[in-house]
Amino acid sequence: MYHVNWKNAEPIPAHNETCFERDLLAVILPTPEERKKFEQYVSWAKTYTIVPHTTMQRHTHNFGEFIYVLNGRGAVEAGGVRKEFKRRDAIQIPADIPHAFVNEDDTQVVTLLSLGWLCARMGQEPETKEAGPDAGPTLEKVRLYNWYEHESFKLGHKKTLWWTEIGKQLGDTPEERMFMSHFIGISVVGLDLVPDQHPKGEIYFVDQGHGYLGVEGERTDVEEGSMTLIPGNAVHTVGSTLPDQQMNLLIIATYSELEPWAES
Ligand SMILES: [Fe+2]
Ligand SMILES: [Fe+2]
Repeated sequence: MYHVNWKNAEPIPAHNETCFERDLLAVILPTPEERKKFEQYVSWAKTYTIVPHTTMQRHTHNFGEFIYVLNGRGAVEAGGVRKEFKRRDAIQIPADIPHAFVNEDDTQVVTLLSLGWLCARMGQEPETKEAGPDAGPTLEKVRLYNWYEHESFKLGHKKTLWWTEIGKQLGDTPEERMFMSHFIGISVVGLDLVPDQHPKGEIYFVDQGHGYLGVEGERTDVEEGSMTLIPGNAVHTVGSTLPDQQMNLLIIATYSELEPWAES
């Protein structure tokens, strides 16, 4: 199974040693052949742990970046605009916008999950560049959304789980939503949930609790911090460890011509 827990990946100093980077995709897909299988779905999956009292070097990417705050609190800055974030906030940063992450705490680290797609630039390698101190485009349009603070869950999958749309809160124009076809939070309570199958690939990331994932009949235990890639067309299911235990996950899929944003 294509699986890693970010806490078990090797941390490497990055961005002038203001943070430690873990390249989750390199662990899950160590060979170019395996990477090729997923390049339509995701081209970048890393965590950044920002050391206390530092600002991560200002930079840009040639892809849209989705950030999910795994722990700590801090701020994202660009174009003179500053937005504070905390655990479980989701943040969308459009391609080519210079940005910096700040950890002002004296003792606590901040860890961010960073996911990127090439979207309209499909075919290019993902690239990060250092950015100068000049203002550049503003972050005004960047939205933050914390799915634990909103009572917007709906019953899904034949009433076996609860789900809520995170991606729709981050982008409300077709261009902003081009990054992905869905980005949802789900809450599962139960053992054998209804299997799912569709042409697009997905990322499952466990935010809280523990349980299992089944992919094409292979079953593996997952826990907080686990990331799994589900290949397109693979039959998959998810469940919690015990009938009355809850597990919360993020499910993210790239934009797909076959299955564009599901209106519901
Ligand atoms: Fe970034
Ligand atoms: Fe699915």
